[in-house]
Amino acid sequence: FTVRAGSYSDELVKTAKSVASPGRGILAMDESNATCGKRLASIGLENTEANRQAYRTLLVAAPGLGQYISGAILFEETLYQSTTDGKKIVDVLVEQNIMPGIKVDKGLVPLVGSNNESWCQGLDGLASRCAAYYQQGARFAKWRTVVSIPNGPSALAVKEAAWGLARYAAIAQDNGLVPIVEPEILLDGEHGIERTFEVSQNVWAEVFFYLAENNVMFEGILLKPSMVTPGAECKEKATPEQVAEYTLKLLHRRIPPAVPGIMFLSGGQSEVEATQNLNAMNQSPNPWHVSFSYARALQNTCLKTWGGRQENVKAAQDALLTRAKANSLAQLGKYTG
Ligand code: 13P
Repeated sequence: FTVRAGSYSDELVKTAKSVASPGRGILAMDESNATCGKRLASIGLENTEANRQAYRTLLVAAPGLGQYISGAILFEETLYQSTTDGKKIVDVLVEQNIMPGIKVDKGLVPLVGSNNESWCQGLDGLASRCAAYYQQGARFAKWRTVVSIPNGPSALAVKEAAWGLARYAAIAQDNGLVPIVEPEILLDGEHGIERTFEVSQNVWAEVFFYLAENNVMFEGILLKPSMVTPGAECKEKATPEQVAEYTLKLLHRRIPPAVPGIMFLSGGQSEVEATQNLNAMNQSPNPWHVSFSYARALQNTCLKTWGGRQENVKAAQDALLTRAKANSLAQLGKYTG
């Protein structure tokens, strides 16, 4: 039994607005088991379900987190998981006034026929998975695909990325989930900020072309773009003001004001850099809520502080709350460092 397209429209608009609420952003904690394993290895822990559960319990139970965080993106395991003291993680989030979300893509594989680029899998069976995730309490979804500047990007890779995002977005909306549309333009490379700007314009033009073609309702989506920065290996660095100038110029040229929220990824920026860049973008009013959906830039210090030890849980939660509060202030343009 599937619900007809359009029947969720009012709810989608409400969900998107609530995630894009002033002074709040998204905690991305949807690392796949493989990626989570790398994070745990960095603090000397084994990649077991128990360790993933302990870490994610710490995150969602941080007292008062909902003041700064409006949504949390979960990996499938976490959506069905309980905390270490037996409460459903979804229920803990809802009690904190945090909307549960779910990563629905199935990851990247080589795009044969391209310049060693990737495409994102996960459309097969997506409608029934989305319906089950909604039943389980998820109200928004994420699909992350990537575009590599050093490897091209080829027209084929950009088109594939945009088409996949648009099909996913239509299917998620049909099943009551607000789609986060994430074509991550990877930081890797020696290119300057102008080149990132040029590629970003091209990528977002394609994404919106196919979103429209697939009848996606723009009021019921959220975007997760990369900020426009120089490549990570570029010798010339950019100030937060330059990043804000280029990124806002991109958004103004490509993103309709019907879209309620722009939730940036941190993509390997340091915690403070990600906060400063976001703050610079909120120095004057924007047509959309300009906010964050950070994983590493919210979690790095928290994870290190925890180190897998029960006695460090409170200090680790404090570290998370410090970053969450700083980014909340940056969303309001009031971060002072
Ligand atoms: P980072 O903020 O660590 O880039 O992760 C965000 C994310 O969820 C990428 O999909």
